[in-house]
Amino acid sequence: MPAGADEQRDLLRRVDIVAGLDRVALARLASHIEPQIATAGGAVCEQGDVADALFIIARGRFAVFTHDEQGGEQRINTLGPGDYFGEMALLTDEPRSATVRAETDGELLRLDRRSFLKLLDDEPHAGRAIATALARRLRRRDLGGAPSVPATSVETAVRSGAALRPSRHRAVAAIGVVAAMLLIGVVFLVTEPFAGALAQWRFSLLLIAAVILWVTEPVPAYVVSLGLIIAWLGADIGATPYKTVSGFASMSWIFVFSVLGIAGAVARSGLLMRLGLLLIERVPPILPLQSAAFVVTGVILTPLLPLAMARAAVTAPLSLAVADALRLEERSPASAVLGLSAWVGSGPFIFLFLNGSPVCLAAWSLMKVRYQEQFDWTHWALSAAPLALLVAVGMLVALFVLYRPGSLAVPRREPLLLQRAVLGPPSREEIAVGIIVAATLIGFIVVVPTFLVPPGLVALGGFLAVAIATRLGPGDLARLDWSYLIFFGVVLSMQDLAEGLRLDRIVGETVGARLLDVGIGGPLFVILVGMATVLVRSFLPADQAILLLSLAFIPVADSLGVNPWLAVIAILALGLSWHVPAQTPEFLVAHAASEGRLYSQAQARRAAYAYIVVGLVSLGLCLPYWHLVGLI
Ligand code: CMP
Repeated sequence: MPAGADEQRDLLRRVDIVAGLDRVALARLASHIEPQIATAGGAVCEQGDVADALFIIARGRFAVFTHDEQGGEQRINTLGPGDYFGEMALLTDEPRSATVRAETDGELLRLDRRSFLKLLDDEPHAGRAIATALARRLRRRDLGGAPSVPATSVETAVRSGAALRPSRHRAVAAIGVVAAMLLIGVVFLVTEPFAGALAQWRFSLLLIAAVILWVTEPVPAYVVSLGLIIAWLGADIGATPYKTVSGFASMSWIFVFSVLGIAGAVARSGLLMRLGLLLIERVPPILPLQSAAFVVTGVILTPLLPLAMARAAVTAPLSLAVADALRLEERSPASAVLGLSAWVGSGPFIFLFLNGSPVCLAAWSLMKVRYQEQFDWTHWALSAAPLALLVAVGMLVALFVLYRPGSLAVPRREPLLLQRAVLGPPSREEIAVGIIVAATLIGFIVVVPTFLVPPGLVALGGFLAVAIATRLGPGDLARLDWSYLIFFGVVLSMQDLAEGLRLDRIVGETVGARLLDVGIGGPLFVILVGMATVLVRSFLPADQAILLLSLAFIPVADSLGVNPWLAVIAILALGLSWHVPAQTPEFLVAHAASEGRLYSQAQARRAAYAYIVVGLVSLGLCLPYWHLVGLI
């Protein structure tokens, strides 16, 4: 009788290569494990075969044989429950080094090649366990004089994963440095042509130099952010040292810090995976329902885990698990629809919530205080809801029209049962995190507007509660995205400085007057902002694009009599459009986390263009609603 999910889980916990994984990581791996029955006398793999998987023995006895040149067979080992075999050929990318045959009836857990190599990349413990096993084998062989294991095995394994990380071209970085240096040179050496508005020019040129350096990345982003503070002070733009770092002392900064902290705890808790499993088990295997469920899940996760990158990393493997459970062919139309629904849900919907992403908060904090107060969490969500609905429906229709998938088969249940068994009943920590996140959201919705408490304070309270409940140590704190937090602090200070220099007013009045001259007023302006966002996103990453566009368009909106929130929402709605995949790391994560098996970049590109059209059309369709509620 095949082992039950609970037995398989207990076995996995004893196997050294996966023993170092925590509950959530093991549950994620479990979606790639498939039980396989072995009958006495049958070979699982033959020496010289091409390798595609690793096998963990759940039950039974297995013998390892090598063949000599004369065709003789030599038994070199016997393996039992908890042992594994088939790792050598995967590591060396060579044919199987031995034949493994079942001596009794038994059961194996089969882990496919890709998942095994990924496990080695992600889990240092796994690499060490394999190295130890190989070293023991070598030692035994040396003592017995048998041929040695290729020395490259572990090296190959350790090296194999780096391909995911995009590397920036050196030439681009060099061009960035030269361009930035030129601008900085102008700031410090040229004064004549800028007389009258010297501080404003210096501020703007330094900002452009910083954007160039952020994009071309000759040094890490945080170095550029901190360098900007020194440059502002050095260029004497009339700001006090305190003002140049005031963003770090603001409630908005505390908000983003706390939200990132809560997000980390949520991602580690297993809560999200449980939600995903529920989705797979409860939603009938009908593609439109499954895709809609993925979009909705992504949207629900957005305020709970306000980092598109983290959401993509969670939902993409889930969509892969569903595709596997449904036995969909790789990159088939149905796989593409499923995978891209998961991405659409977890990525571009940041615009629906004030805390959908740190960039939403950044854009929000660039509006004047009275607009910030107008758009609290609830009002923001309500005002953006029609747009979200249109985008969701529009994208689902577009995916089905673009890929024309067929109907689905009945899902395979074993991997799901094993995943559930590994996760076990909700742990105390998981329940606590769930309650705290719910309480924090209620805080945003009820406490903030009723008692006029700054949202940052509610978020900080939530973070402290999570820190206590999950015993968050200083090491965990170090894992926050400090580069973004530093960037964000500088952005917030920037807003203060720009206001002090009256730059917002200058930009607003000049650009606003020009737009009015050519007949672009309220509704057209919102669409124009959306189009400008698509354009700017072609060459700038989301964070910097959203920052620049917000700095430019918020004051213009004001001077055109349009509520600046509409400019913000147009920027955010198209801010994660991903027509240039390399410019959207969140999309790259979604693609990589689904192992590139659900859709190719070329398949995704069609959906990407569809998103731009759907986004812009939906913006247009929402205008009457926004007019009705007095925003235009
Ligand atoms: P692989 O070469 O992929 O396929 C055959 C497997 O047999 C091999 O990986 C190892 O997992 C296993 N194997 C080979 N030699 C030995 C040995 N001396 N002791 C135990 N297992 C072995």
